Amino acid sequence: MLKMENVTKTYKHRGSPVAALSGATVRISAGDFVSVVGPSGSGKSTLLLMLGGMLSPTSGKVFLEGQSLYDLNTDQRAHFRKKKVGFVFQTFNLIPYLTALENVEVPLYLAKEEPGFQRKRAVGLLERVGLRDRMYHMPSELSVGQQQRVALARMLANDPAVILADEPTGNLDPETSRQVIGFFEEINREGKTVVMVTHDPRAAERAKNTLRLTNGTILSGINPDEENLHVA
Ligand SMILES: Nc1ncnc2c1ncn2[C@@H]1O[C@H](COP(=O)(O)OP(=O)(O)O)[C@@H](O)[C@H]1O
Ligand SMILES: [Mg+2]
Repeated sequence: MLKMENVTKTYKHRGSPVAALSGATVRISAGDFVSVVGPSGSGKSTLLLMLGGMLSPTSGKVFLEGQSLYDLNTDQRAHFRKKKVGFVFQTFNLIPYLTALENVEVPLYLAKEEPGFQRKRAVGLLERVGLRDRMYHMPSELSVGQQQRVALARMLANDPAVILADEPTGNLDPETSRQVIGFFEEINREGKTVVMVTHDPRAAERAKNTLRLTNGTILSGINPDEENLHVA
């Protein structure tokens, strides 16, 4: 379902190369729930962005459902990503001048869904995350945990097969974090593939498999010999 073959990413910073990931080979099967752990700067966000079609590797290939993402042109890749991948970040990235409801409608609008369907779907998702009575609030009028729930609803808007989450509980208190992790478990049980970067060992151990990064290199998965996660 998700595959990386010998992927390397080197950023340029003021003219000098910064190696973020080297020779990463990863295979994640449909329905898996993988946590990605490692020290700050070890390449976790870089890995996630490349898996999601948002950042071109310097070398190597990334496949999503058999499609080599970076062999598509930018428009094709954006289109593919919109249909297949849902993202959520530590900082939520909600649009500050749109209501909770409008924030969830954005990906539906971008996918050119009918306005009536956009509204119905967005309302349903906000109800699912317990925000029925906060739909017309602006992000600044919501608690941090509620903002994250809006981001979770938005992530599911186009019913993506793959969920990529970058430290989704990083800004949350322990109780809210537990709820958010529970939500990821729930959508994983419903069949979505989840890849979650986390600093929180308790969050990481709730996943089915763990990918460990250090210094841009993949150290191991928990069960590297297992059929559904081959790490070279
Ligand atoms: N846009 C960028 N330009 C230059 N260097 C970057 C950029 N993004 C990340 N890096 C560097 O790449 C390495 C990996 O970063 P990142 O993937 O963000 O790590 P993590 O998410 O594990 O903290 C770090 O050394 C970081 O400083
Ligand atoms: Mg990061």
